[in-house]
Amino acid sequence: MKKFLVVFFVVALTISLCACTPQTSGSGPSTAPEGTQNNSLIRVGFAQCKADESDWRKANTKSVQDALSRENGFDLILADSNNDAAKQVSDVQGFIDQEVDYIIIAAVNEDGWDTVLGNAQKAGIPVILMDRTINASEDLYTCWLGGGFYDEGVKATDWMAKRFANGKQANIVHLQGQLGASAQVGRTQALEDAIGANSNWKLLAQQTGEWSTDTAKEIMASWIQQYGAEINCVYAENDNMADGAIQALEEAGMTAGGDEGVAIISFDANRAYLQMTLEGKINCNVECNPLLGPGVAAIIKKIESGGQPNKKESVEETAFYYDTITQEIIDARPY
Ligand code: AHR
Repeated sequence: MKKFLVVFFVVALTISLCACTPQTSGSGPSTAPEGTQNNSLIRVGFAQCKADESDWRKANTKSVQDALSRENGFDLILADSNNDAAKQVSDVQGFIDQEVDYIIIAAVNEDGWDTVLGNAQKAGIPVILMDRTINASEDLYTCWLGGGFYDEGVKATDWMAKRFANGKQANIVHLQGQLGASAQVGRTQALEDAIGANSNWKLLAQQTGEWSTDTAKEIMASWIQQYGAEINCVYAENDNMADGAIQALEEAGMTAGGDEGVAIISFDANRAYLQMTLEGKINCNVECNPLLGPGVAAIIKKIESGGQPNKKESVEETAFYYDTITQEIIDARPY
């Protein structure tokens, strides 16, 4: 009887202790203090090429930060590679070592991704390519979201074909983006294809302006010294470089844009540069949409709820022209 009472007492005590112990499901709200890891948030490593490189890149960085905020359920860790491809690969390896839940990459360079993406795959971390594409097997990443760089280039060369119609000679200087970035590769390829197809188009000079206003201005000034009034078309692979080229032309007493000035082609279509398009200084400004944060957040939420995102998600892009753009169009745009 005494033995029975002892067993009964131990069993009763165990049951009551279990009833009082909180269950750790991991899904409830965390009370982790500010600055420490909050397990209810989705941890996302964002390997940005260079967060403040250009107006486009600043808008893109902000879009991701806004969409993947703590209020929206994310713990976003930003790694800025300063456009250094090797650093960016090691930033991604760092995210794998930290065991983040997802990795977003806006790739500095198309090449060099096989090993680190293989490591992410082994660790079971989904990789979302944002904006830039890469040269790697599609099996190594979950999906890509962005615009079409070659198609953007074709929109620009279509406009050039009208400007330089009926055999009118085009003498082009070409400011490229950072070499090896898919945005540079696609836009450059479209121009080179069009030059090959139009015997009245001549490429006077081609050099990278590294997406930068100041670098582009310096290069443009040296081309003006070399070719002077022979230049009648600038193909600049982003707004900031178009701005640098325009500054150099104006400082040299030349006219940028309009019907008779040096034809200025730009990419990105950020608000300030659409204003320059309305002023006539940029003739053709091809849109590249930087507001990719909400799309990335939606992809992650889809995966979290057991869904499978499309391998490729292209965003819609348009183009703006100096002779048809209006202030109303600019005011209605989100960036
Ligand atoms: O990948 C998009 C390009 O990258 C933008 O045109 C440029 O401004 C940016 O850095």
